[in-house]
Amino acid sequence: MKLDYTTFVRSAPGRFIAGKTGLPQPTDLPRFEQRPQPILSPVLVLGSSDAAEELAEQLLAWGGDVRRHGDDLDKIGTIVVVLDEIAAPTDTADILRGMPAAFKKMKVGGRVVTVSRTSTSADPAVNAARAGVEGFIRTLAKEARYGTTANGILVDDGVALTESSVIGALRFFLAAKSAFISGQTLRVTAAGAGVPSTWEAHLQGRAVLVTGAARGIGASIARTLARDGAKVIVLDVPAAGSALADLANEIGAIPIQMDITAPDAGQRIVDELTKRDLVLHALIHNAGITRDKYYVNMDEERWNSVIDVNIAAQLRINDALLASDRLGDSFRLVSLASTSGVAGNAGQANYAYSKSAVMGMVAALAPILAERGGTANAVAPGFIETEMTKRIPPIQREIFRRSNSLKQGGLPIDVAETVSFLCSLPAGGYIGQTLRVCGQNLVGR
Ligand code: NAI
Repeated sequence: MKLDYTTFVRSAPGRFIAGKTGLPQPTDLPRFEQRPQPILSPVLVLGSSDAAEELAEQLLAWGGDVRRHGDDLDKIGTIVVVLDEIAAPTDTADILRGMPAAFKKMKVGGRVVTVSRTSTSADPAVNAARAGVEGFIRTLAKEARYGTTANGILVDDGVALTESSVIGALRFFLAAKSAFISGQTLRVTAAGAGVPSTWEAHLQGRAVLVTGAARGIGASIARTLARDGAKVIVLDVPAAGSALADLANEIGAIPIQMDITAPDAGQRIVDELTKRDLVLHALIHNAGITRDKYYVNMDEERWNSVIDVNIAAQLRINDALLASDRLGDSFRLVSLASTSGVAGNAGQANYAYSKSAVMGMVAALAPILAERGGTANAVAPGFIETEMTKRIPPIQREIFRRSNSLKQGGLPIDVAETVSFLCSLPAGGYIGQTLRVCGQNLVGR
Protein backbone atom coordinates (compact mmCIF):
# COMPACT_ATOMS: atom_id res chain seq x y z
CA MET A 1 0.00 0.00 0.00
CA LYS A 2 1.21 3.52 -0.83
CA LEU A 3 1.92 5.44 2.36
CA ASP A 4 2.28 9.04 1.34
CA TYR A 5 0.62 12.17 2.61
CA THR A 6 -2.15 12.19 0.02
CA THR A 7 -3.16 8.57 0.74
CA PHE A 8 -3.08 9.24 4.48
CA VAL A 9 -5.11 12.45 4.37
CA ARG A 10 -7.82 10.78 2.27
CA SER A 11 -8.29 7.99 4.88
CA ALA A 12 -10.89 8.47 7.66
CA PRO A 13 -8.35 9.13 10.47
CA GLY A 14 -6.29 11.33 8.13
CA ARG A 15 -9.34 13.44 7.24
CA PHE A 16 -10.15 13.83 10.93
CA ILE A 17 -6.62 14.93 11.89
CA ALA A 18 -6.30 17.27 8.89
CA GLY A 19 -9.69 18.80 9.66
CA LYS A 20 -8.66 19.50 13.28
CA THR A 21 -5.18 20.83 12.48
CA GLY A 22 -5.80 22.72 9.24
CA LEU A 23 -3.45 20.49 7.19
CA PRO A 24 -4.12 20.59 3.43
CA GLN A 25 -6.75 18.12 2.24
CA PRO A 26 -6.28 17.72 -1.50
CA THR A 27 -9.35 16.65 -3.44
CA ASP A 28 -9.07 13.59 -5.67
CA LEU A 29 -9.43 15.49 -8.96
CA PRO A 30 -11.85 13.94 -11.46
CA ARG A 31 -10.08 13.50 -14.80
CA PHE A 32 -11.38 12.58 -18.27
CA GLU A 33 -11.59 8.87 -17.37
CA GLN A 34 -13.90 9.66 -14.45
CA ARG A 35 -15.83 12.42 -16.23
CA PRO A 36 -15.82 12.03 -20.01
CA GLN A 37 -18.80 14.39 -20.47
CA PRO A 38 -17.67 17.77 -21.81
CA ILE A 39 -19.65 19.73 -19.21
CA LEU A 40 -20.45 19.31 -15.54
CA SER A 41 -24.08 20.36 -15.12
CA PRO A 42 -25.96 22.35 -14.03
CA VAL A 43 -24.32 25.20 -15.91
CA LEU A 44 -24.89 28.81 -14.96
CA VAL A 45 -24.21 31.33 -17.72
CA LEU A 46 -23.91 34.95 -16.53
CA GLY A 47 -23.77 37.92 -18.85
CA SER A 48 -26.24 39.91 -20.90
CA SER A 49 -24.46 40.33 -24.24
CA ASP A 50 -25.46 38.58 -27.46
CA ALA A 51 -22.31 36.50 -27.11
CA ALA A 52 -23.49 35.25 -23.69
CA GLU A 53 -26.67 34.02 -25.33
CA GLU A 54 -24.74 32.36 -28.16
CA LEU A 55 -22.33 30.63 -25.77
CA ALA A 56 -25.27 29.42 -23.64
CA GLU A 57 -26.70 27.81 -26.78
CA GLN A 58 -23.36 26.18 -27.49
CA LEU A 59 -23.25 24.71 -23.97
CA LEU A 60 -26.79 23.43 -24.43
CA ALA A 61 -25.73 21.75 -27.68
CA TRP A 62 -22.94 19.99 -25.74
CA GLY A 63 -25.54 18.49 -23.43
CA GLY A 64 -25.34 20.97 -20.56
CA ASP A 65 -28.29 21.69 -18.28
CA VAL A 66 -27.94 25.43 -18.87
CA ARG A 67 -29.49 28.10 -16.62
CA ARG A 68 -29.33 31.88 -16.62
CA HIS A 69 -30.06 32.13 -12.84
CA GLY A 70 -28.64 30.00 -10.05
CA ASP A 71 -31.00 30.85 -7.19
CA ASP A 72 -33.09 27.68 -7.39
CA LEU A 73 -30.13 25.31 -7.76
CA ASP A 74 -28.73 23.32 -4.81
CA LYS A 75 -25.46 22.50 -6.56
CA ILE A 76 -23.70 24.00 -9.57
CA GLY A 77 -21.18 22.20 -11.80
CA THR A 78 -20.09 25.04 -14.04
CA ILE A 79 -20.23 28.83 -14.11
CA VAL A 80 -19.43 30.67 -17.34
CA VAL A 81 -19.23 34.45 -16.98
CA VAL A 82 -19.33 36.38 -20.25
CA LEU A 83 -17.89 39.88 -19.80
CA ASP A 84 -17.11 40.83 -23.39
CA GLU A 85 -19.00 44.14 -23.38
CA ILE A 86 -17.90 45.69 -20.09
CA ALA A 87 -16.75 49.26 -20.73
CA ALA A 88 -16.09 50.36 -17.12
CA PRO A 89 -15.31 48.49 -13.88
CA THR A 90 -18.78 49.37 -12.54
CA ASP A 91 -20.36 47.38 -15.40
CA THR A 92 -19.45 44.17 -13.58
CA ALA A 93 -22.00 44.67 -10.79
CA ASP A 94 -25.08 43.63 -12.75
CA ILE A 95 -23.40 40.67 -14.42
CA LEU A 96 -21.85 39.28 -11.23
CA ARG A 97 -24.97 39.70 -9.10
CA GLY A 98 -25.71 36.27 -7.60
CA MET A 99 -22.24 34.95 -8.41
CA PRO A 100 -20.98 34.71 -4.77
CA ALA A 101 -23.99 32.56 -3.82
CA ALA A 102 -23.51 30.40 -6.91
CA PHE A 103 -19.75 30.02 -6.24
CA LYS A 104 -20.60 28.62 -2.81
CA LYS A 105 -22.55 25.77 -4.40
CA MET A 106 -19.84 24.35 -6.66
CA LYS A 107 -19.67 20.58 -7.05
CA VAL A 108 -16.44 18.58 -6.65
CA GLY A 109 -14.27 19.28 -9.71
CA GLY A 110 -16.45 22.24 -10.72
CA ARG A 111 -15.47 24.77 -13.35
CA VAL A 112 -15.56 28.57 -13.45
CA VAL A 113 -14.58 30.22 -16.74
CA THR A 114 -14.66 33.91 -17.64
CA VAL A 115 -14.79 34.99 -21.27
CA SER A 116 -13.72 38.59 -21.75
CA ARG A 117 -11.73 40.89 -24.00
CA THR A 118 -7.93 41.17 -23.86
CA SER A 119 -6.82 44.33 -22.05
CA THR A 120 -5.30 46.07 -25.06
CA SER A 121 -7.78 48.97 -25.25
CA ALA A 122 -6.48 52.54 -25.46
CA ASP A 123 -9.45 53.75 -23.40
CA PRO A 124 -8.47 53.78 -19.68
CA ALA A 125 -11.94 52.85 -18.38
CA VAL A 126 -12.41 50.05 -20.88
CA ASN A 127 -8.93 48.73 -20.27
CA ALA A 128 -9.35 48.88 -16.50
CA ALA A 129 -12.60 46.94 -16.77
CA ARG A 130 -10.94 44.28 -18.89
CA ALA A 131 -7.73 44.01 -16.85
CA GLY A 132 -9.73 43.58 -13.65
CA VAL A 133 -11.06 40.25 -14.86
CA GLU A 134 -7.60 38.70 -14.53
CA GLY A 135 -7.26 39.58 -10.85
CA PHE A 136 -10.81 38.36 -10.28
CA ILE A 137 -10.35 34.94 -11.89
CA ARG A 138 -6.96 34.36 -10.22
CA THR A 139 -8.57 35.09 -6.86
CA LEU A 140 -11.50 32.76 -7.46
CA ALA A 141 -8.95 30.06 -8.29
CA LYS A 142 -7.29 30.65 -4.92
CA GLU A 143 -10.58 30.59 -3.02
CA ALA A 144 -12.11 27.61 -4.88
CA ARG A 145 -12.43 24.36 -2.96
CA TYR A 146 -12.93 20.65 -3.69
CA GLY A 147 -11.05 20.62 -6.96
CA THR A 148 -12.96 23.45 -8.61
CA THR A 149 -10.82 25.39 -11.07
CA ALA A 150 -11.19 28.95 -12.37
CA ASN A 151 -9.66 30.14 -15.64
CA GLY A 152 -10.11 33.00 -18.07
CA ILE A 153 -10.32 33.22 -21.85
CA LEU A 154 -9.11 36.59 -23.14
CA VAL A 155 -10.34 37.28 -26.64
CA ASP A 156 -8.68 39.95 -28.76
CA ASP A 157 -10.84 42.69 -30.28
CA GLY A 158 -11.97 41.67 -33.72
CA VAL A 159 -12.28 37.97 -32.87
CA ALA A 160 -15.92 36.90 -32.40
CA LEU A 161 -16.73 34.88 -29.31
CA THR A 162 -18.24 32.24 -31.55
CA GLU A 163 -14.96 31.54 -33.40
CA SER A 164 -13.57 28.02 -33.11
CA SER A 165 -10.56 29.24 -31.10
CA VAL A 166 -12.88 30.55 -28.35
CA ILE A 167 -15.19 27.52 -28.49
CA GLY A 168 -12.21 25.14 -28.34
CA ALA A 169 -10.75 26.93 -25.30
CA LEU A 170 -14.12 26.93 -23.56
CA ARG A 171 -14.60 23.24 -24.18
CA PHE A 172 -11.12 22.44 -22.84
CA PHE A 173 -11.40 24.54 -19.67
CA LEU A 174 -14.84 23.07 -18.91
CA ALA A 175 -13.74 19.47 -19.43
CA ALA A 176 -12.17 17.27 -16.78
CA LYS A 177 -9.12 17.26 -19.09
CA SER A 178 -8.03 20.58 -17.55
CA ALA A 179 -8.22 19.27 -13.95
CA PHE A 180 -4.79 20.64 -12.92
CA ILE A 181 -5.06 24.03 -14.63
CA SER A 182 -6.34 26.83 -12.45
CA GLY A 183 -5.87 30.57 -12.13
CA GLN A 184 -4.69 30.82 -15.75
CA THR A 185 -5.69 32.89 -18.73
CA LEU A 186 -5.43 31.96 -22.37
CA ARG A 187 -5.24 34.71 -24.94
CA VAL A 188 -7.12 34.15 -28.17
CA THR A 189 -5.60 36.21 -30.96
CA ALA A 190 -7.16 34.73 -34.09
CA ALA A 191 -10.08 32.68 -35.32
CA GLY A 192 -8.60 29.17 -35.24
CA ALA A 193 -8.75 26.59 -38.01
CA GLY A 194 -12.35 25.49 -37.40
CA VAL A 195 -13.87 22.94 -35.02
CA PRO A 196 -12.90 19.30 -35.56
CA SER A 197 -15.52 17.01 -37.14
CA THR A 198 -15.37 14.98 -33.92
CA TRP A 199 -14.06 16.41 -30.66
CA GLU A 200 -13.10 12.95 -29.40
CA ALA A 201 -10.84 11.70 -32.22
CA HIS A 202 -9.83 15.22 -33.19
CA LEU A 203 -6.37 14.17 -34.41
CA GLN A 204 -7.63 11.27 -36.52
CA GLY A 205 -4.97 10.16 -38.99
CA ARG A 206 -2.65 13.11 -38.27
CA ALA A 207 1.06 12.41 -37.79
CA VAL A 208 2.59 13.77 -34.58
CA LEU A 209 6.13 13.40 -33.23
CA VAL A 210 6.87 13.34 -29.49
CA THR A 211 10.47 13.62 -28.26
CA GLY A 212 11.52 12.12 -24.93
CA ALA A 213 8.56 9.74 -25.18
CA ALA A 214 10.00 6.65 -23.46
CA ARG A 215 8.72 7.60 -20.02
CA GLY A 216 7.07 10.23 -17.81
CA ILE A 217 5.21 13.10 -19.39
CA GLY A 218 6.36 12.21 -22.92
CA ALA A 219 4.92 8.68 -22.70
CA SER A 220 1.64 10.09 -21.44
CA ILE A 221 1.56 12.63 -24.29
CA ALA A 222 2.16 9.84 -26.82
CA ARG A 223 -0.65 7.70 -25.33
CA THR A 224 -3.05 10.63 -25.20
CA LEU A 225 -2.41 11.75 -28.78
CA ALA A 226 -2.88 8.12 -29.89
CA ARG A 227 -6.15 7.99 -27.93
CA ASP A 228 -7.21 11.12 -29.81
CA GLY A 229 -6.63 9.42 -33.15
CA ALA A 230 -3.11 10.56 -34.09
CA LYS A 231 -0.49 8.49 -35.87
CA VAL A 232 2.29 8.88 -33.31
CA ILE A 233 6.04 8.83 -33.81
CA VAL A 234 7.90 8.39 -30.53
CA LEU A 235 11.54 9.43 -30.16
CA ASP A 236 14.02 8.91 -27.34
CA VAL A 237 17.71 8.20 -26.74
CA PRO A 238 19.05 4.73 -27.68
CA ALA A 239 19.56 3.96 -23.96
CA ALA A 240 15.77 4.15 -23.52
CA GLY A 241 15.22 1.91 -26.57
CA SER A 242 13.48 -0.95 -24.82
CA ALA A 243 10.93 1.26 -23.00
CA LEU A 244 10.38 3.10 -26.27
CA ALA A 245 9.75 -0.15 -28.15
CA ASP A 246 7.26 -1.29 -25.49
CA LEU A 247 5.35 1.99 -25.75
CA ALA A 248 5.41 1.88 -29.56
CA ASN A 249 3.94 -1.64 -29.48
CA GLU A 250 1.30 -0.61 -26.95
CA ILE A 251 -0.05 2.32 -28.96
CA GLY A 252 0.92 1.33 -32.51
CA ALA A 253 3.51 4.11 -32.79
CA ILE A 254 6.67 4.39 -34.90
CA PRO A 255 9.80 4.42 -32.66
CA ILE A 256 12.89 6.46 -33.47
CA GLN A 257 16.00 5.99 -31.33
CA MET A 258 17.89 9.24 -31.47
CA ASP A 259 19.67 11.76 -29.31
CA ILE A 260 18.10 15.12 -30.21
CA THR A 261 21.40 16.89 -29.58
CA ALA A 262 23.04 15.12 -32.54
CA PRO A 263 23.90 17.87 -35.07
CA ASP A 264 22.00 16.03 -37.82
CA ALA A 265 18.94 15.15 -35.66
CA GLY A 266 16.63 17.48 -37.61
CA GLN A 267 17.69 16.13 -41.00
CA ARG A 268 17.33 12.54 -39.78
CA ILE A 269 13.77 13.30 -38.65
CA VAL A 270 13.00 14.84 -42.06
CA ASP A 271 14.51 11.76 -43.78
CA GLU A 272 12.44 9.43 -41.60
CA LEU A 273 9.24 11.33 -42.41
CA THR A 274 10.07 11.37 -46.13
CA LYS A 275 10.84 7.64 -46.11
CA ARG A 276 7.44 6.94 -44.58
CA ASP A 277 5.67 9.53 -46.72
CA LEU A 278 4.42 11.37 -43.64
CA VAL A 279 3.62 15.06 -43.25
CA LEU A 280 3.77 16.27 -39.68
CA HIS A 281 0.69 17.81 -38.05
CA ALA A 282 2.42 18.39 -34.72
CA LEU A 283 5.84 18.31 -33.12
CA ILE A 284 6.03 18.02 -29.36
CA HIS A 285 9.39 19.10 -27.94
CA ASN A 286 9.12 17.24 -24.65
CA ALA A 287 12.63 15.80 -24.10
CA GLY A 288 14.29 17.67 -21.28
CA ILE A 289 16.89 17.22 -18.55
CA THR A 290 17.87 18.83 -15.26
CA ARG A 291 21.44 19.19 -13.93
CA ASP A 292 20.79 21.16 -10.76
CA LYS A 293 23.44 23.06 -8.76
CA TYR A 294 23.49 26.43 -7.10
CA TYR A 295 24.85 28.89 -9.59
CA VAL A 296 28.09 29.45 -7.65
CA ASN A 297 28.87 25.76 -8.24
CA MET A 298 27.55 25.56 -11.79
CA ASP A 299 30.20 24.11 -14.10
CA GLU A 300 30.14 24.54 -17.85
CA GLU A 301 29.21 20.91 -18.47
CA ARG A 302 25.99 21.28 -16.44
CA TRP A 303 25.13 24.56 -18.09
CA ASN A 304 25.85 23.43 -21.65
CA SER A 305 24.16 20.04 -21.48
CA VAL A 306 20.88 21.52 -20.21
CA ILE A 307 20.91 24.34 -22.76
CA ASP A 308 21.68 21.90 -25.55
CA VAL A 309 18.91 19.38 -24.81
CA ASN A 310 16.22 21.77 -23.57
CA ILE A 311 16.44 24.53 -26.18
CA ALA A 312 19.35 24.50 -28.67
CA ALA A 313 18.39 21.07 -30.08
CA GLN A 314 14.79 22.25 -30.49
CA LEU A 315 15.87 25.28 -32.51
CA ARG A 316 18.05 23.13 -34.80
CA ILE A 317 15.25 20.60 -35.35
CA ASN A 318 12.75 23.38 -36.09
CA ASP A 319 15.08 24.87 -38.70
CA ALA A 320 15.46 21.53 -40.48
CA LEU A 321 11.69 20.95 -40.49
CA LEU A 322 10.89 24.48 -41.62
CA ALA A 323 13.28 24.06 -44.54
CA SER A 324 11.62 20.78 -45.55
CA ASP A 325 8.29 19.92 -47.18
CA ARG A 326 7.26 17.78 -44.20
CA LEU A 327 5.07 20.25 -42.29
CA GLY A 328 1.28 20.08 -42.64
CA ASP A 329 -0.99 23.06 -43.42
CA SER A 330 -2.16 23.53 -39.83
CA PHE A 331 1.13 22.56 -38.19
CA ARG A 332 1.21 22.76 -34.38
CA LEU A 333 4.43 23.03 -32.39
CA VAL A 334 4.18 22.52 -28.64
CA SER A 335 7.21 22.80 -26.40
CA LEU A 336 7.57 21.96 -22.73
CA ALA A 337 8.53 24.93 -20.59
CA SER A 338 8.32 24.93 -16.79
CA THR A 339 7.18 27.13 -13.92
CA SER A 340 10.92 27.29 -13.10
CA GLY A 341 11.27 29.25 -16.32
CA VAL A 342 8.43 31.57 -15.29
CA ALA A 343 9.53 32.35 -11.75
CA GLY A 344 13.08 31.02 -11.44
CA ASN A 345 14.09 28.30 -9.01
CA ALA A 346 17.13 28.14 -6.72
CA GLY A 347 19.57 25.55 -8.01
CA GLN A 348 18.18 25.65 -11.53
CA ALA A 349 19.80 28.64 -13.27
CA ASN A 350 20.59 26.49 -16.32
CA TYR A 351 17.16 24.84 -16.43
CA ALA A 352 15.27 28.10 -15.80
CA TYR A 353 17.26 29.76 -18.59
CA SER A 354 16.37 26.96 -20.97
CA LYS A 355 12.67 26.97 -20.05
CA SER A 356 12.35 30.76 -20.30
CA ALA A 357 14.07 30.38 -23.64
CA VAL A 358 11.38 27.94 -24.74
CA MET A 359 8.73 30.59 -24.06
CA GLY A 360 10.72 33.09 -26.09
CA MET A 361 11.12 30.60 -28.91
CA VAL A 362 7.39 29.89 -29.29
CA ALA A 363 6.54 33.60 -29.05
CA ALA A 364 8.79 34.33 -32.05
CA LEU A 365 8.03 31.14 -33.96
CA ALA A 366 4.23 31.36 -33.81
CA PRO A 367 3.86 34.38 -36.15
CA ILE A 368 6.24 32.71 -38.62
CA LEU A 369 4.18 29.53 -38.57
CA ALA A 370 0.92 31.51 -38.68
CA GLU A 371 1.85 32.67 -42.19
CA ARG A 372 1.46 29.05 -43.27
CA GLY A 373 -1.61 28.26 -41.12
CA GLY A 374 0.31 26.89 -38.15
CA THR A 375 1.12 28.01 -34.64
CA ALA A 376 3.50 27.38 -31.74
CA ASN A 377 2.72 27.38 -28.03
CA ALA A 378 4.31 26.17 -24.82
CA VAL A 379 3.06 24.30 -21.78
CA ALA A 380 4.64 25.12 -18.43
CA PRO A 381 4.06 22.30 -15.96
CA GLY A 382 4.41 22.95 -12.25
CA PHE A 383 5.07 19.96 -10.00
CA ILE A 384 4.19 16.78 -11.91
CA GLU A 385 4.66 13.29 -10.42
CA THR A 386 7.40 11.72 -12.61
CA GLU A 387 10.88 10.13 -12.40
CA MET A 388 12.31 13.65 -12.76
CA THR A 389 10.55 14.97 -9.65
CA LYS A 390 11.19 11.73 -7.70
CA ARG A 391 14.82 12.87 -7.58
CA ILE A 392 13.92 15.92 -5.45
CA PRO A 393 14.70 15.33 -1.72
CA PRO A 394 11.52 14.14 0.14
CA ILE A 395 10.76 17.19 2.30
CA GLN A 396 11.39 19.67 -0.48
CA ARG A 397 9.29 17.46 -2.78
CA GLU A 398 6.38 17.50 -0.33
CA ILE A 399 6.58 21.31 -0.08
CA PHE A 400 6.62 21.72 -3.89
CA ARG A 401 3.71 19.32 -4.23
CA ARG A 402 1.52 21.34 -1.84
CA SER A 403 2.54 24.82 -3.04
CA ASN A 404 -0.43 25.35 -5.30
CA SER A 405 -4.12 26.09 -4.97
CA LEU A 406 -5.10 22.44 -5.54
CA LYS A 407 -2.63 21.32 -2.82
CA GLN A 408 -1.23 18.39 -4.79
CA GLY A 409 1.11 17.42 -7.59
CA GLY A 410 -0.25 17.06 -11.09
CA LEU A 411 -0.09 13.88 -13.17
CA PRO A 412 1.56 13.41 -16.57
CA ILE A 413 -1.92 13.05 -18.08
CA ASP A 414 -2.70 16.67 -17.08
CA VAL A 415 0.16 17.91 -19.24
CA ALA A 416 -0.70 15.45 -22.00
CA GLU A 417 -4.34 16.62 -22.22
CA THR A 418 -3.11 20.21 -22.54
CA VAL A 419 -0.70 19.27 -25.31
CA SER A 420 -3.49 17.51 -27.19
CA PHE A 421 -5.64 20.63 -26.85
CA LEU A 422 -2.82 22.79 -28.24
CA CYS A 423 -2.51 20.40 -31.20
CA SER A 424 -6.19 20.84 -32.05
CA LEU A 425 -7.55 22.85 -34.99
CA PRO A 426 -9.05 25.60 -32.75
CA ALA A 427 -5.57 26.14 -31.25
CA GLY A 428 -4.60 27.95 -34.46
CA GLY A 429 -5.97 31.02 -32.65
CA TYR A 430 -3.40 30.88 -29.82
CA ILE A 431 -0.19 32.53 -30.94
CA GLY A 432 2.96 31.87 -28.93
CA GLN A 433 1.23 31.41 -25.59
CA THR A 434 2.56 29.59 -22.55
CA LEU A 435 -0.18 27.77 -20.72
CA ARG A 436 0.65 26.73 -17.17
CA VAL A 437 -0.42 23.30 -15.89
CA CYS A 438 0.45 23.83 -12.26
CA GLY A 439 -2.69 23.91 -10.09
CA GLN A 440 -2.00 27.66 -9.74
CA ASN A 441 1.46 27.20 -8.32
CA LEU A 442 2.22 30.02 -5.92
CA VAL A 443 5.30 31.06 -7.88
CA GLY A 444 5.00 33.74 -10.53
CA ARG A 445 1.60 34.87 -11.70
P1 NAI B 1 11.75 12.47 -17.53
O1 NAI B 1 13.17 12.66 -17.12
O2 NAI B 1 10.92 11.48 -16.78
O3 NAI B 1 11.70 12.10 -19.11
C1 NAI B 1 12.41 12.82 -20.06
C2 NAI B 1 12.63 11.94 -21.30
O4 NAI B 1 13.41 12.69 -22.23
C3 NAI B 1 13.40 10.66 -20.98
O5 NAI B 1 12.75 9.55 -21.57
C4 NAI B 1 14.76 10.92 -21.60
O6 NAI B 1 15.42 9.74 -22.04
C5 NAI B 1 14.40 11.84 -22.76
N1 NAI B 1 15.58 12.59 -23.20
C6 NAI B 1 16.46 13.28 -22.41
N2 NAI B 1 17.46 13.78 -23.17
C7 NAI B 1 17.20 13.41 -24.45
C8 NAI B 1 17.89 13.60 -25.67
N3 NAI B 1 19.05 14.27 -25.73
N4 NAI B 1 17.35 13.08 -26.80
C9 NAI B 1 16.19 12.40 -26.76
N5 NAI B 1 15.51 12.16 -25.62
C10 NAI B 1 16.01 12.66 -24.48
O7 NAI B 1 11.10 13.92 -17.52
P2 NAI B 1 9.57 14.37 -17.34
O8 NAI B 1 9.34 14.70 -15.92
O9 NAI B 1 8.67 13.42 -18.02
O10 NAI B 1 9.62 15.77 -18.13
C11 NAI B 1 9.25 15.91 -19.49
C12 NAI B 1 9.38 17.38 -19.87
O11 NAI B 1 8.56 18.16 -19.01
C13 NAI B 1 10.78 17.94 -19.73
O12 NAI B 1 11.03 18.86 -20.78
C14 NAI B 1 10.75 18.64 -18.40
O13 NAI B 1 11.71 19.65 -18.31
C15 NAI B 1 9.33 19.19 -18.40
N6 NAI B 1 8.83 19.47 -17.05
C16 NAI B 1 8.62 18.49 -16.13
C17 NAI B 1 8.14 18.80 -14.87
C18 NAI B 1 7.85 17.79 -13.82
O14 NAI B 1 7.37 18.16 -12.74
N7 NAI B 1 8.09 16.51 -14.04
C19 NAI B 1 7.87 20.19 -14.49
C20 NAI B 1 8.12 21.14 -15.53
C21 NAI B 1 8.57 20.78 -16.76
